[in-house]
Amino acid sequence: MNTEALQNLAKAIDCSAPLVVLTGAGISAESGVRTFRDPDGYWARFDPAELASPEGFRRDPELVWRWYDARRRQLLQAQPNPGHRALVALEALCADFTLITQNVDGLHTAAGSQNVLEMHGSIWRLRCTRSTREWVSRDVFESFPVHCQCGALLRPAVLWFGEMYHQGRLQRALEAMRKAQTVLVVGTSGMVGIVSGLLDQASRQARLVEFNPNPSHISAACDTLIAGPAGESLPQLLQYIQSKTPRRP
Ligand code: OAD
Repeated sequence: MNTEALQNLAKAIDCSAPLVVLTGAGISAESGVRTFRDPDGYWARFDPAELASPEGFRRDPELVWRWYDARRRQLLQAQPNPGHRALVALEALCADFTLITQNVDGLHTAAGSQNVLEMHGSIWRLRCTRSTREWVSRDVFESFPVHCQCGALLRPAVLWFGEMYHQGRLQRALEAMRKAQTVLVVGTSGMVGIVSGLLDQASRQARLVEFNPNPSHISAACDTLIAGPAGESLPQLLQYIQSKTPRRP
C-alpha cells in the first residue's frame, strides 16, 4: 500500500546527510506495550494528574509506585520489535543519525540504538528525592512506596507533567532538528508540546515524514504520512535504502 511512498522516501534520503527519527509510544505497540492516548491506552483508564505529576506523587506515592512497578514488570517481558531493529540498522547506514524518543521503556537501547535522546527519561532509572542521585535498576520491588538507603523516597527518573526538560538533552534535540535533512516521526500522537516544538525547528529545511496507522495532531505539519504499523513500514523503508546503498567493504 505504501510501496511507492516508501520507495520515493528511500530515494530522497541521503545517508550522508543528517537524519533524525522522533518516536513515541506507537513504536513499542508491536512489542505489546500499551500506548497512552489510543482507545486502550493508559490515559483512557487512568488520570495522568494522579500518576504522572509531582503533585500526584506527593499526594499518594504508593499509588504512583504501584503503577510504575506494574509497568516495569510488564516491560521486563517486552522485546524490541522489527521497527526498533530497523532503526538500529538505519543508524549504521547513516553518517549523522539522532534518535529522539519520548518513550521511557528502554526498548531502543535494548535493540542496540546508540545515539538516543530519551526526552522523558527512563523507567529503568531511579532517583533519590533528597540527593537527586540517579542510577539504573531493574529490581522488582515488594513493598511500596520505594525508599532509598538514605531513607528518602525514591522516584522513577521519568519526566512528569509540569516538570522541566533536561536542558542538555533538549539542546541536543533542538540542534539535531535544526540541521536535519529528513525527520521520521514515528508512533506519536504529537499531543505533548515537545513534538510540535521540535518539528518547528526542522520544518524550514527538512522533509517531515510521519509513520502512524492513524492521522495525528501533527499530520498537517508533515509532508507525507506512511499509514500503517511502524513494525512493518520501517523495515520496508530500510530494505529500500539498503538496496540503493552500496555495502561497506
Ligand atoms: P500516544 O499514546 O499519545 O500516541 C501513540 C501514537 O502511536 C498514536 O498516534 C497511535 O496512532 C500510534 N500508533 C499506535 N500503534 C502504532 C504502530 N504499531 N505503529 C506506529 N504508530 C502507532 O503516545 P505518545 O505520543 O508517545 O509521557 O505520548 C507522548 C507522551 O505522553 C508519552 O511519552 C508519555 C505520555 O504522557 C511520559 O511518559 C512522560
